[in-house]
Amino acid sequence: MSSAPPTSGLRPQIWTREDPEFFISTDPKYLSVKAVNAAFEQDFVYWVKEPFPEDVLSQMLYGSLSFGVYRWTKPAQTDEPVSPSPEDTEQIGLARVVTDGCSFAYLSDTYVLPHYQGHGLGSWLVGCVAATFSKENMPYLRRIMLLTDDERMQGFYAKMFGVKVVGREERKDMGRDLVFMCARPHAQS
Ligand SMILES: CC(C)(COP(=O)(O)OP(=O)(O)OC[C@H]1O[C@@H](n2cnc3c(N)ncnc32)[C@H](O)[C@@H]1OP(=O)(O)O)[C@@H](O)C(=O)NCCC(=O)NCCS
Repeated sequence: MSSAPPTSGLRPQIWTREDPEFFISTDPKYLSVKAVNAAFEQDFVYWVKEPFPEDVLSQMLYGSLSFGVYRWTKPAQTDEPVSPSPEDTEQIGLARVVTDGCSFAYLSDTYVLPHYQGHGLGSWLVGCVAATFSKENMPYLRRIMLLTDDERMQGFYAKMFGVKVVGREERKDMGRDLVFMCARPHAQS
């Protein structure tokens, strides 16, 4: 299976901060199937039990609007706009949004590698997702949905997307329940 083109039709974006070491992008050229599968093999990605075949993970990543968090291993020493070449980047996080690019969004597979957690990268990542799906950018968005387990994360997502808990999924395989959160942000129907 080759990499499918993204179905969202949205133009790839890049977000930078003052510190040029890290950037976030929806440009598929930066995605690393190997890096994501290596993260999925670790226990902190509690919802994945075993790595995916690479062709399946490629389809998941390239067929979604995938927000990658990247470390730029050779940051420029100038004030020029960031345009790292993919060879000089390392993927350290992900938020994958299954979307048609206008009316529906399902947020999944959100992580930042443990070494980089607790320094605001996760807030920045989810903030980029929220900005992309804002009323201004996506006036016909009817539903945004996600699943999570952690109470602190529930509060975080509620703050970022206005989502509320609408159901619970018993997951004996994970040894925990997941909550299903949803919002009708720009309520069309
Ligand atoms: C969730 C995650 C992406 C946040 O990334 P991060 O870079 O550590 O995030 P930040 O430092 O910007 O903190 C953002 C929010 O993440 C949550 N968070 C961060 N560290 C956490 C921890 N140790 N336990 C639970 N939630 C945590 C909090 O809700 C925090 O917001 P708050 O401080 O306003 O409550 C990251 O901790 C992670 O990958 N966790 C493991 C995978 C996971 O649980 N993903 C979410 C699935 S729904």
